[in-house]
Amino acid sequence: MTTDKTPEKISEMFDDIALNYDRNNNIISLGLHNRIKKLALKNLTLKDNFKILDICCGTGDIEKILLKTKYALDITGIDFSEKMLLIANDCHSDKVHFIKADATDLPFEDNSFDTITMTFGLRNIQNRTKAIKEAYRVLRKDGEFLHLDFGVKNFPSKIFDFIAKTGIKLFYKDKLPYEYLINSKKEFPEPDEIIKEFAAENFKLKKKKDFLLGIISMQIYTK
Ligand SMILES: C[S@@+](CC[C@H](N)C(=O)[O-])C[C@H]1O[C@@H](n2cnc3c(N)ncnc32)[C@H](O)[C@@H]1O
Repeated sequence: MTTDKTPEKISEMFDDIALNYDRNNNIISLGLHNRIKKLALKNLTLKDNFKILDICCGTGDIEKILLKTKYALDITGIDFSEKMLLIANDCHSDKVHFIKADATDLPFEDNSFDTITMTFGLRNIQNRTKAIKEAYRVLRKDGEFLHLDFGVKNFPSKIFDFIAKTGIKLFYKDKLPYEYLINSKKEFPEPDEIIKEFAAENFKLKKKKDFLLGIISMQIYTK
C-alpha cells in the first residue's frame, strides 16, 4: 500500500511533529543533516541581492545557513504547515519572509526568483510534477534550483533505515510520523528517475553530488 500523501494528511502530520522536528532530525541523522545541508548549499552560485525561495522550508534550516553567508540575500520560505512556520518565524524574526503556501500552487509571479532550494520536501508531495512545474515557472532564466533528498537504496541506506527505526523505537511514543519517513523514503524514486522528472519539465541538470555514500543526493538544475 502506498503512503497517503494528501495535502491535508501531510500538513496535519507536520503540524503534529513540528515541536520535536529539529531534535528528532538530529537523532535520526546522528546530527549530520545540517552539515550536509551546509555542504550542499556551497554548490550554489549566490550573489548580493539575490532573491531566494526555499520550498517546503519546514523550521527554516536552509534560511539559517543562507543568512550566515557573506551575501545580502532576500529570502522567502514557504511551507503549508502552520506549526512548522511558527517555529521558523521564531528563529528568524523579520529577516526572512515565511509564507504559508502549497508547493504545487505558488503565490508568486513567473521568473521572480534567482535561486530555489528544496530539501527533503519533494518526497512528501503527492503531485511531484505539479511542484516541479511551479518551481520552473517562478525561477528566472538561468536561475539555479538545488534539490536535496534521499538517494539510492543501497546498503548504507538500509543502515540508515535501521538507525532511524531504532531511534524511533527508543525515543517516541508516536511512531507514525517516523514510519512515514521510512516508507516515503522507500517509495521515493532514486536520483536517476528524479533527474528524468525534472528534465521532463525542462530543467537542465548542472551538477549532481552524493552525500553519505549515496544515502542523500543533491542535484542542481538550471532553467
Ligand atoms: C521533511 S520536512 C523538510 C523541512 C526542511 N526543508 C528541512 O530540510 O528540514 C518537509 C516539509 O515539507 C512541507 N510540505 C510537504 N508538502 C508540502 C506542500 N505541498 N506544500 C508546502 N509544504 C509542503 C511539510 O509541511 C514539511 O514542513
